[in-house]
Amino acid sequence: MQILITGSYGQLGTALQDIIEKGESEIGPLPESYKYANVTAVDYDELDITDTVFTECFVTDAFASLDYTSEGYKGLIINCAAMTNVDACETDYETAMKVNAIGARNLAAAAAAEGVKYVHVSTDYVFAGDASKPYCEWDTPNPATVYGKSKLLSERYVRETCPESFVVRTSWLYSYVGNNFVKTMVNLAREKDSIKVVDDQVGNPTHAYDLAHHILKLADTDEYGIYHCTGEGICSWYEFAKEIIRLSGETCEVIPCTTEEFPRPAPRPAYSAMENLMLKCTVGNEMRPWQDALASYFKNSKE
Ligand SMILES: NC(=O)c1ccc[n+]([C@@H]2O[C@H](COP(=O)([O-])OP(=O)(O)OC[C@H]3O[C@@H](n4cnc5c(N)ncnc54)[C@H](OP(=O)(O)O)[C@@H]3O)[C@@H](O)[C@H]2O)c1
Repeated sequence: MQILITGSYGQLGTALQDIIEKGESEIGPLPESYKYANVTAVDYDELDITDTVFTECFVTDAFASLDYTSEGYKGLIINCAAMTNVDACETDYETAMKVNAIGARNLAAAAAAEGVKYVHVSTDYVFAGDASKPYCEWDTPNPATVYGKSKLLSERYVRETCPESFVVRTSWLYSYVGNNFVKTMVNLAREKDSIKVVDDQVGNPTHAYDLAHHILKLADTDEYGIYHCTGEGICSWYEFAKEIIRLSGETCEVIPCTTEEFPRPAPRPAYSAMENLMLKCTVGNEMRPWQDALASYFKNSKE
């Protein structure tokens, strides 16, 4: 199998590379098809996905050595590249649309032209965030932020451009590399005696390695479509922070506060939890409870 991973320096991109190399994740072994996978992993410095012509040429070259006549032939693009700074998207509308929507479309078009499968990663921010029960795949998106709008457009472009595609929505992602809430809380706890964290926004924390595992499981099938893939269980940022500080061994006090006390350029969803319903109906939902995945993150970080 030939795999192209874009946004390879990011949280998800590195997780995918790591588990493909090991042949397994913390959840379990990967499908056999990944055993001899040949991975090309690139980030912005080698492939700027907003460049339509260059992206098309790059993808053609990346899959040039594939033997299309061979029965075992498989090609796959996993797009992990994105502008993920939600507040920056709010002020830099144009870059957000170029990277998140046009970039995703460029890769989807190149995947369709090459006849390879395509995985695109999206977000809970496509929803309004005012629900009272977890969003399912059939719920109607209605994003409130530029980031959410750019990702919703990306989903539409991908589905219109590449029939053999998977759109996988996730949320509250953290990993061993990159910037994320877990690292921010641990760093703050080392500097301060107490931190205030919002308690009126709830969602699903997601370990990037668990997401990577399910993306590879899905991509090994022909069950194209939209999927939700988040850690199991719902919590507020305050509850998440409390558990992070407890597991980190720091002694900092975590104090609940309201969204009003922490105004941000991009409005944050009050309720953006999602249910992994279509995973359950297809390849199976093995996403771990968020507390277990977080404990495993701290165990592995210390080792
Ligand atoms: N992080 C979350 O909490 C979260 C939640 C829900 C969904 N998601 C989605 O999950 C996916 C993976 O997120 P992540 O947290 O792994 O992202 P990440 O860590 O921010 O990594 C994204 C990577 O893409 C690169 N990139 C930016 N613009 C690019 C371009 N024009 N061409 C090529 N590469 C470019 C970034 O480079 P620079 O760092 O230099 O910009 C970065 O290395 C994204 O689609 C994101 O929207 C993330």
